[in-house]
Amino acid sequence: MKKNSKKWSERFSEPTSEIVKRFTASVTFDQRLAMVDIEGSLAHAEMLKKQKIISASDFKSIAKGLNQIQKEIQSGKFKWSIDLEDVHLNIEKRLTDIVGEPGKKLHTGRSRNDQVATDMRLWLREVVDKTIAQIETLQRATLTLAGEHVMTIMPGLTHLQIAQPISFAHHLLAYFEMLERDKARFQDSYKRINTLPLGAAALAGTSYPIDRAYVAKLLKFDSVMANSIDAVSDRDFLIEFNFSVSLLMTHLSRWSEELIMWSSPFFGFIEISDGFCTGSSIMPQKKNPDVPELVRGKVARVNGHLVALLTLMKGQPLAYNKDNQEDKEPIFDVADTISDTLNIYAEMVAGITVSKESMEAAAFKGYSTATDLADYLVKKGMPFREAHGVVAKAVKYAIAQGCDLSELELKALQKFSPLIEQSIFQCLTLKGSVQSRNHFGGTSFTSVKSALKKAHQKLA
Ligand code: ARG
Repeated sequence: MKKNSKKWSERFSEPTSEIVKRFTASVTFDQRLAMVDIEGSLAHAEMLKKQKIISASDFKSIAKGLNQIQKEIQSGKFKWSIDLEDVHLNIEKRLTDIVGEPGKKLHTGRSRNDQVATDMRLWLREVVDKTIAQIETLQRATLTLAGEHVMTIMPGLTHLQIAQPISFAHHLLAYFEMLERDKARFQDSYKRINTLPLGAAALAGTSYPIDRAYVAKLLKFDSVMANSIDAVSDRDFLIEFNFSVSLLMTHLSRWSEELIMWSSPFFGFIEISDGFCTGSSIMPQKKNPDVPELVRGKVARVNGHLVALLTLMKGQPLAYNKDNQEDKEPIFDVADTISDTLNIYAEMVAGITVSKESMEAAAFKGYSTATDLADYLVKKGMPFREAHGVVAKAVKYAIAQGCDLSELELKALQKFSPLIEQSIFQCLTLKGSVQSRNHFGGTSFTSVKSALKKAHQKLA
């Protein structure tokens, strides 16, 4: 077995084996935490100084060294080494190289266990802020499109069968509402993320006279975690974030499925702009909706990560275990995936062109106003179940005639019920049907206009 020349510490009599070093190192991926790691270290060091655990001059050297390291990392000059396992040890070693003795004092009263838990929370709260802002950008694009299509009528579907005519804007606003709830989930999770683990040290706290509240204040945490064991153990905040992304991606996946269908020539309702589609290597006529297809596909990996993180937690005894190092690659991928997805989605939605004619024609084709005929009969005194039966017969007749209900003669309609009068034709139009659903949450043009107004106010 190939061996590393260096022992992990003086406690060991043999050097770490090369394959073990590679197996246990996380620096290739956790270097992404470098900036928040430095931020956390600076606050920790400042607290050590305030509490007179280290001297003011030690703090000065540490702060100077950390600031230099920050610049080295940002400019790509920093040399990462897997011999130093992870981001924390890489930075600490470099600090000691630069400033000497004072650097060795930074880790006083701290463990990598509370350090990494703090880093993950600092990192995640930035991600959550960004996600919320990106959801709002997508919501704005959705409202712009909806604003242009309040009076565009499309067939509303249930079971993928034509059900009732609806305003296209009403359909789009359904996604706005889903995004509102997604956003609220991220906002609510913030208070569970933004609480400080530092001070928990390895698991039991520390014997130094630390001031955790001061560190929390410096790092803008809302509170300090109340139990040192819990502070270093749990990754529930990451699992919760992953779940919220899974649900958000689920909503986007349903929307994507619709965009894919609507842009197929069988529907022809919309066109996704050329920049968001690709061609086929063999069929020159093809224009494929790759972007929504990939969004639908990417939910699989996000959900996979959710299961990975849940499984990662479930068997661990308290407190910290190295298993937790496996939280990083999945959660980083979740963060990248949702960021890219939201970014591209907002632009794609902004570039959609709508064929009002195709939508209306489809709504007209599917007897979508049959319920309106039944409601008409009910308003004239017929019990709803009976009316349902009468209209079913009328629809069967119209299908045989190859026409819409509104295209039947009054006389023909009256054969199904003498209650039917000339006024029925007003109800049988697509517009009449949509307009009649005029209540809070309904699809009438006035209802949709006021929903749109409220939605804009929510984003203001
Ligand atoms: N790289 C580790 C992680 O991601 C940091 C904490 C290591 N702690 C330890 N006691 N080995 O979880």
